[in-house]
Parts: sequence; C-alpha cells; structure tokens
Amino acid sequence: MNSLKQLLAIVALSLSTFSIASAANDPAVVQRGAYLARAGDCMACHSAAGKAEYSGGLAIDSGHGIIYSTNITPDKQHGIGNYTEQQFADAMRKGVRADGTHLYPAMPYPSYAKVSDEDVHALYAYFMDGVKPVATDPPATRMSFPFNMRWGMALWNVFFASDKPFRAQDGWSGEIRRGAYLVEGLGHCGSCHTPRGFAMNEKAGDSSDAQFLAGGELNGWAVPSLRGMPRWSADDIVAYLQTGRNKTSSVAGEMSMVVEHSTSHLKDEDLKAIAAYLKTLTQVPPRSSGIKPQGRDETIRKLTAAKDLTLGERLYLDNCAACHFVTGKGAGGIFPELDGASVINAGNPGALVHVILQGARTPSTEKAPSILVMPGFAHRLSDSEVAELATFLRQGWSNQAEAVTERDVSKLRAKAEK
Ligand code: HEC
Ligand code: HEC
Ligand code: HEC
Repeated sequence: MNSLKQLLAIVALSLSTFSIASAANDPAVVQRGAYLARAGDCMACHSAAGKAEYSGGLAIDSGHGIIYSTNITPDKQHGIGNYTEQQFADAMRKGVRADGTHLYPAMPYPSYAKVSDEDVHALYAYFMDGVKPVATDPPATRMSFPFNMRWGMALWNVFFASDKPFRAQDGWSGEIRRGAYLVEGLGHCGSCHTPRGFAMNEKAGDSSDAQFLAGGELNGWAVPSLRGMPRWSADDIVAYLQTGRNKTSSVAGEMSMVVEHSTSHLKDEDLKAIAAYLKTLTQVPPRSSGIKPQGRDETIRKLTAAKDLTLGERLYLDNCAACHFVTGKGAGGIFPELDGASVINAGNPGALVHVILQGARTPSTEKAPSILVMPGFAHRLSDSEVAELATFLRQGWSNQAEAVTERDVSKLRAKAEK
C-alpha cells in the first residue's frame, strides 16, 4: 500500500515537473501559440490604435455602456502575468476571470469554449513568454444598471453560452474537421456571421444548427451568410481570406480588420480547410424580395446606349462606371463585381449606403500589399441622389433587393458623420 502511494507520488511529481518544464519556454510551443493568437484574432480587440500590442483599451459599445478590452500582456500588476494556466483557460473558455468575476461576452468565450487543451496551453505559453509586458491600465468598463452586475452573466451563460467542447460530425474528412475547429472555435466567425437573438446571444454555436453562420448584422452593416458560399469556389474563399480580394469581391467594413490581423496570417492549408468546411454547410435559401430585377442584358444595353436613363442609372454612369463598368463586373482582383454582390442584395442597405458615402479601402496584406481605394461620395451626392443610385444598384443587372429611400440615406448619413 505504502509503495503504491510512493509510486503515485513519484508519477505525480514527474508529471508536474514535466508540465512546468514544457510550459516555461519551449520556443516551438510559444511560436505555435503566436500563430493561434492570430487564428483567434486576440489582437483585434486587445490592441487599440496607438497603444502597445495586447495592452487593451479598445472601446466596445455594448448598447448598455462601453466595455473596454483588458491588458492581456504578462505584466503582473496590469496584465495577466499572475494568471495560472487554469485561470487563463477559464477566462478563455468559461468567461471567468482569475478573481472569479464574470467577463462580458464581448470577449468571445462562447466560441473559445471549443478550443482544445493543447491549443489553450500553447496560447498560454505565448502570452506568458512571447508577449512583452506593458504596465498600463485601460479605462475601466462602466455599464449601466443592471448590466453592471457581472454575476448576472452567470445566468446568461446558463441560458445562452455553450461550454461544450468541439465536436466533429460523422463523415467529416480531416480537412473539414480542421476547418470546423477553426471556424467554430478560435476564429469565432459566428460572433458576426450568426444571427443574434433577443439577449444578444448567437442563435447557434455549431454546424448542427442551420442558423449557424446564416448571416447577421453588425452596427447596421449587413454580414453575409457563409453557408455553402454558392457564388464562390473554395479558391475564391481562400483568396479573399488571404488577401482581402478575389476575382469578384473585395473586403470592406469590420471584415477588413479580420483579414488584416487574422486570416491573412494563416497557412494555406488552414485557409483551405476553412473553405472546405464552409462549402459543406447547407445554403440559406435566397432571400425573396419579390422584386423583379432589370436583367443583366437590359441594364448593360441601357447604360451603353446612355439614352432615356433614370436618375440612378445616370449617376452610376457618371460616377461609378469608370471602375465598376457598365457590366457591373468590375475588374478581377481590383474593382469588385457589383452584379450579385452580397453587400448590394442584403436586406439591410446600411453597408451599401455607407460604402457609397464613405468609400472603402482594402487592407494591405503580405500576399497583396497594394491598397485598393474606393472614393467616398458624401460630398458629391445628395441624400436623394444616393437613394436613387442605391436603388438602381439593388435592381439593376441580376440584383433584386428593395428600393432605398431618401429618409434611409439621411439617417445613415447622420450616423456615419457622428
Ligand atoms: C471580440 C473581441 C475580443 C477578442 C477577439 C478577444 N478578446 Fe479577450 N476580452 C475582450 C474583452 C472586451 C474583455 C474584457 C471583458 C470584460 O471586462 O468583461 C476580454 C478579456 C479577456 C481576458 C480576461 C483578462 C482580465 O481582465 O483578467 C483574457 C485572459 C482574454 N480576454 C484573453 C483573450 C485571448 C487569449 C484572445 C484570443 C484567443 C482574446 N482574448 C480575444 C474582448 C476580446
Ligand atoms: C468582427 C466581425 C466579423 C468576424 C469575426 C468575421 N467576419 Fe467575415 N465578414 C464580416 C462582415 C461585416 C462582412 C461583409 C464585408 C463587406 O461588406 O465587404 C464579412 C464578409 C465575409 C466574407 C465574404 C462573404 C460575401 O458573400 O461577400 C467571408 C468569406 C467571410 N466574411 C469569412 C469569415 C470567416 C471565415 C471568419 C472567421 C475566421 C469571419 N468571416 C469572421 C464580419 C466578420
Ligand atoms: C476609382 C475607382 C472606383 C470608383 C469611381 C468607384 N468605385 Fe466602388 N470600389 C472601388 C474599389 C477599389 C473597391 C474595393 C474597396 C474595398 O473593398 O475596400 C470598391 C468597392 C465598392 C463596393 C463594395 C463591394 C463589397 O463587396 O464590399 C460597392 C458597393 C461599390 N464600390 C460601389 C460603387 C458605386 C456605387 C460607385 C459610384 C458612386 C463606385 N463604387 C465608384 C473602386 C471604385
């Protein structure tokens, strides 16, 4: 009996020294953690413009007050330098801080719950040994009552957050499994691409539910469905995630940051896995707006003849056709295609109007360093002109979405200029 106890003690001791030795600073593990931090896009939220990397301070407007991201550098006083690996794992996967208080789900712990122990370990190694400590405090989060009571999040978690580990579906290949793991877990793609319910909860957390990645909305900006991606090949998806552009589209809005800080840093094989997984998801049936499109040939014929044009068509010809052409096809990899584009056919025209007013620019990535710029037209076009133009875009070629009114544009312009 005694010898068994001794044996167990020796095994436990050697296991613990083993894990300490490997946690301290195996450079390969730290490096893998750095890559996983890219996949999880920790930078997007934990770094603010003009501040040191991972020192926090990004303001996230929750609708009930501003939540500031925290300092996750290994500084012992201001950051997470005193976190044990278990405490770090609990913050990432359960949304519980070292002091036992609950995090707001502005931190995507409902997705990170699917991250494996091995990957949490590598991330921990990176944040302890691969990141420079920064001794600054971000501003304090101030939420309005009752949201300032963090214990309420424990209740929210019971109803809305899944802490289930990642589960592969039967019949998935290794590649699809890898893609699913990245998308559902670290990539937290669902936090923007899955529709939200009444408590701001994502309506689905994985591919077993047809609402998962079925498209959502972010600050009035339409976020497209990623299910099946019917208009794109797997290569198109890879190119978009790697370079922010492909032969029909280019990235704008919040997705630009995702491409810049996260997906453009991922290995080809991981991007291919993500594309393969998205392709397996059943498509969302096309939104039926009841609008009859003008038809591709008819739009091209009218714009080419340049006679008897509506105001919207005239404005397009004068302001947009030089880059996007009368075909609406643009030029592959440079000017995106407007015929069939998600941003134009979305139920909510907010993103489209925003792009027309403010313009857009693609991020510079390693494989596509040049920045493509779409000029803004806020100073050149009135609200009613923007409405006519947007309505033409939404019903020209094969597009079929509802008209945009002058009032819609006035509201969106006021918001954009705030
Ligand atoms: C979408 C934004 C977002 C992303 C992405 C994100 N975080 Fe967070 N994180 C937050 C916010 C906001 C908080 C603070 C929430 C609060 O105060 O309740 C936070 C808190 C934390 C905490 C708790 C720190 C403390 O204050 O004690 C840790 C640890 C953490 N994040 C790690 C990570 C890691 C590691 C990643 C990448 C794998 C990551 N976060 C990605 C927004 C984000
Ligand atoms: C912070 C919010 C956010 C996150 C996180 C996010 N996306 Fe997006 N994504 C968007 C928005 C917004 C758009 C629309 C961009 C536009 O209008 O040009 C978009 C567009 C896309 C598109 C183009 C779809 C189309 O039909 O045009 C793809 C592909 C995509 N995202 C993949 C992903 C993947 C894969 C992930 C996870 C690794 C992800 N996104 C995470 C916000 C996000
Ligand atoms: C000088 C060339 C140029 C002109 C003129 C121009 N665009 Fe663009 N447009 C671009 C480029 C480049 C992009 C890609 C920017 C990005 O994705 O960040 C773009 C993007 C867009 C998008 C977003 C596509 C998406 O998938 O997110 C829309 C919509 C659009 N343009 C409409 C218009 C309209 C309407 C006009 C006329 C009022 C116009 N453009 C004039 C170059 C131009």
